[in-house]
Amino acid sequence: MLNVVILAAGMGKRMQSSQPKVIQKIAGQSMLGRVINTARTLSPDQLLVVVGHGEQVIRDMFKDWSDVTFVSQWPQLGTGHAVLQAVEGISRTHDNNATMVLYGDVPLVQADTLQALLAASDNGLALLTETLEDPTGYGRIVRDDAGQVVTIVEQKDANQSERSIKEVNTGMLVAPTDKLRGWLERLGCDNAQGEYYLTDIVNMAFADGVTINTIAPKASFETKGVNSRSQQAELERLYQRALAQKQMDSGVAIADPQRFDQRGELVCGQDVFIDVGCVFEGMVVLGDGVSIGAHCVLQDVTVGAGTQILPYSHLHQADIGNQAQIGPYARIRPGTRLDDGVHIGNFVEVKNSSIQANSKANHLAYIGDADIGQRVNIGAGTITCNYDGAQKHRTVIEDDVFIGSDTQLVAPVKVGKGATLGAGTTLTTDAPANKLTVSRTPQKTIENWQRPIKPPRKKS
Ligand code: UD1
Ligand code: CA
Repeated sequence: MLNVVILAAGMGKRMQSSQPKVIQKIAGQSMLGRVINTARTLSPDQLLVVVGHGEQVIRDMFKDWSDVTFVSQWPQLGTGHAVLQAVEGISRTHDNNATMVLYGDVPLVQADTLQALLAASDNGLALLTETLEDPTGYGRIVRDDAGQVVTIVEQKDANQSERSIKEVNTGMLVAPTDKLRGWLERLGCDNAQGEYYLTDIVNMAFADGVTINTIAPKASFETKGVNSRSQQAELERLYQRALAQKQMDSGVAIADPQRFDQRGELVCGQDVFIDVGCVFEGMVVLGDGVSIGAHCVLQDVTVGAGTQILPYSHLHQADIGNQAQIGPYARIRPGTRLDDGVHIGNFVEVKNSSIQANSKANHLAYIGDADIGQRVNIGAGTITCNYDGAQKHRTVIEDDVFIGSDTQLVAPVKVGKGATLGAGTTLTTDAPANKLTVSRTPQKTIENWQRPIKPPRKKS
């Protein structure tokens, strides 16, 4: 049985943002959202978030997360005071639970670390601690000769020898709720910062003979907090490097793991290649042998085996078949389904359309709200005029159609199987199957026509 308290009342002044710090993103998701989701993996009985600065924005953003209870903290008198506000909101019937404290601005703590922290608490106190080369700024873990944790001393309150301690408090801990309540109620603020320190409960626990265990996180990014834009960027890179590593370990070839950005879930088959500067957002699935060229953006996209996405292409909410070729410079928009072997070339935009196997639109086209059959060839400069200013209409192009260059298809309109449209056609009514349809004023040549001649300049 577990309560989780996430502290998020601080101002985050150093972010220099109009928005509260904890709603800023790491790898595409708000920091607070990440911590809440990780906490959820423990199935807590209560999930409380302590808010203060910018609380309305935060409450609004998470209003549909019905398992989360927000607790206001005004004014912010320290981490101990913050946890007390939350614990006061925990019904005493939950007092035999453990309470875990997490931080909204330490976004990347992992579920297995929290699981291990919970296991280490053993009805007592468990602290997530870490040994750092440079412990400056952190609370120090003070142990006795037997190695037992005795107390935590904040940097600003520490003496010379305490400052040399390299084991630091990450802030994350688990405590028995009933005892925590008692300790928090007895906290004072007679210290260098005049704050109610959560860390002071450690010495109280020691005095009460409560067991105090510590564990360390697996990865260094798990305990890193974000206080500034540069720390946000640093943590982002650190985490992206770890995500790239994970992909490489499972067989993905990444041209440069420093230039890789995954902001959601990326599921890859075997022998996938990802060139530099690509961004993957939402849920992206890449089949075996898929190759993604440099500087592509893929958001909520499925790509079938053997398909090549060439450089500078942007794909959003689309489903691409096997052995297709997209780009360079292609834009695939929501609601698009491209079947096996489809080719979409440079400066072609496809929206809310389905294109069946082996059809091609290789240059400069707009295909919107269209249903296109197999083996269709769409010439350069072809445009579906899908919007009449009020409503959208569909264009239907059946199998084996050849559309000449610079054609406008004024929807709703249908091109029958095997039809050919002559270049420059403006199609306003359906084109019959297997015939050539062309709308073009007949070509004529004017005999004896003279180019106008510039009148000679007057000399001044
Ligand atoms: C705290 C720890 C320190 C630890 C460090 C790790 C204490 C007294 N010290 O120090 O031992 O090494 O974290 O980063 O706990 N917050 C509130 N309400 C408040 C005060 C803070 O919600 O009244 C929130 C902040 O928004 C922040 C978090 O608690 O997310 C930590 O507060 P902060 O003031 O940054 O603590 P540190 O001084 O860094
Ligand atoms: Ca502080």
